[in-house]
Amino acid sequence: MQGSAIRPLKSRRCGPLRGTIAVPGDKSVSHRALILGALTVGETRISGLLEAEDVLDTAEAMRRFGAQLVRHSSGQWSVLGTGVGGWAEPESVLDFGNSGTGSRLVMGAMATTPITAVFTGDESLRARPMARVLDPLQHFGASYIARDGGLMPVTLTGAAPAICIDHKVSVASAQVKSALLLAALGAPGRSRIVQDVLTRDHTEKMLAAFGADVSIEPLGKGEAVHVTGEVDLVPCSVEVPRDPSSAAFAIVAALIVPGSELRLPAILLNSRRTGLVQTLLEMGANIVTENERQSGGETIGDLLVRASALRGVDVPPDRAPAMIDEYPILAIAASFAEGETRMHGLEELRVKESDRLASIAAGLKANGLSVSEAPDSLTVEGRGVDGVPGGARVATHRDHRIAMSFLTMGLGSKDSVSVDDTSMIATSFPEFEKLMRDLGADFQAVNA
Ligand code: S3P
Repeated sequence: MQGSAIRPLKSRRCGPLRGTIAVPGDKSVSHRALILGALTVGETRISGLLEAEDVLDTAEAMRRFGAQLVRHSSGQWSVLGTGVGGWAEPESVLDFGNSGTGSRLVMGAMATTPITAVFTGDESLRARPMARVLDPLQHFGASYIARDGGLMPVTLTGAAPAICIDHKVSVASAQVKSALLLAALGAPGRSRIVQDVLTRDHTEKMLAAFGADVSIEPLGKGEAVHVTGEVDLVPCSVEVPRDPSSAAFAIVAALIVPGSELRLPAILLNSRRTGLVQTLLEMGANIVTENERQSGGETIGDLLVRASALRGVDVPPDRAPAMIDEYPILAIAASFAEGETRMHGLEELRVKESDRLASIAAGLKANGLSVSEAPDSLTVEGRGVDGVPGGARVATHRDHRIAMSFLTMGLGSKDSVSVDDTSMIATSFPEFEKLMRDLGADFQAVNA
């Protein structure tokens, strides 16, 4: 799923954005639905699956482990899995493209089955830390070989026999927690996975829906998740809610382009994912949630967003897990606010698809903003709704969220903003350009 031609794009100040935007299915939930389906004997029906490159790479990996996957129509899939402990050894290298989530979760899901698999990915994924997942998987009895620094390509051999673990996760990462919970399914007895902070809990919720024995023990500001292994999962239907991390670009675009009014139906509103909306509300954003309801064990709702005068705020470090993918677009909102926005607790941004803290700071500076960057924080001096200069070409470092964020900036800045590539947007939100244009965004192709 790699190697598409470079596609730079320019974004220009536009008139009010109006209408309804149906953003695609949530990426985190989509990966998990495919993986749990493959760990279940019988047919798991999935609706609203995100058909973006990252998720399609996970689907391909599930096929290589022996699951049958059927695409009935757009977003409607069936997975016929082989059960916990039933995965076959893949015959060749598994390529996870750009996807940290897919690769790390699948490492966990195979780590207590006695097979060997080789994991690789694109240039960005091959530079991202894997030892954070692989080291704790060794406690189950798995073993691995990686490049220096715990980098891919990685060869992982599942435990034989597997033993259950009681482990505290040292990074604020839902991917690491989820990998360990998936590994625990194949280890006899009850594993206990502890985190000091609350990270997204889609794996726990979906495990419960598939009939696993999973329970949560609150522990200070964090919690321990208990999972019993060697229990058969039962197939179920998964309705994937719409992705709040993709919705974020349209939300901020509507806030910064005067006169805009957008509706975003059926967005995932899990409280561990709503840090951006909470922060924007504190900045004075006019965002109304309507029809809050339950769907497949998750809270969803419709968001109504109107252009707003924003003011700078302090974003506390403990909010980071609930908006970890949204700092690039928050930094754009902060640029259009009055006053300073200070964001803290950002160390994990250094190891995302790019060093996002550096990518954001460089892009803002190039577009005339005053920014200060520390190892784990960022301060942006807002220029108000009419005051963002723009005018630069931004280096995306092949990071989809950096590309979409700066294209959003250009819709409200005085001069246009261009990004050096948009081809990688297909990893998470292939319809971004079209859906934003449908609302009135002015995007123009430029030469590479
Ligand atoms: C994800 C967790 C986050 C997030 C990623 C998706 C997940 O990563 O950045 O896009 O689905 O569990 P970390 O767990 O590494 O913070």
